[in-house]
Amino acid sequence: MIRAAALGLLLGLSATPALAAELDPQTGFIIAPGWETVRNNCTACHSSKLVTQNSGSREHWLSLIRWMQDKQGLWPFDANTEATILDYLSSAYGPKEGARRPPLRADQLPENPYRQPSEPQ
Ligand code: HEC
Repeated sequence: MIRAAALGLLLGLSATPALAAELDPQTGFIIAPGWETVRNNCTACHSSKLVTQNSGSREHWLSLIRWMQDKQGLWPFDANTEATILDYLSSAYGPKEGARRPPLRADQLPENPYRQPSEPQ
């Protein structure tokens, strides 16, 4: 296992390609098809972090782009460029359904000092 990882490093391969996405050291963008188009169009006005900290569906990303085009002076894209950007963002920074833990059960919660004796648990 360690030898395989060392060999991977030696060959310039990621040791755990399925777990760790390769990031561009300059912007932090996940390296995947279209990332350079996003770098070229999405880091002129604000940090790439504003992009990488966000996530959402294709519709969500499109609505952000339209908002920036309407209000913030973002330039229009031709259809191909827009599709490349949306494909990249919605797959590399897609909706995070499973990212939140489920709520705690009532018996695992701390004592609620505001609970009235008459209320149910
Ligand atoms: C012409 C300037 C400009 C460009 C280019 C630009 N943005 Fe923005 N963007 C803004 C401004 C201004 C804000 C608001 C910043 C703030 O709230 O501090 C913003 C905010 C955002 C936000 C945060 C939205 C929120 O909900 O708070 C995201 C995400 C974002 N941009 C993504 C992108 C992406 C993706 C691209 C490339 C397609 C892009 N930006 C290109 C100007 C730009």
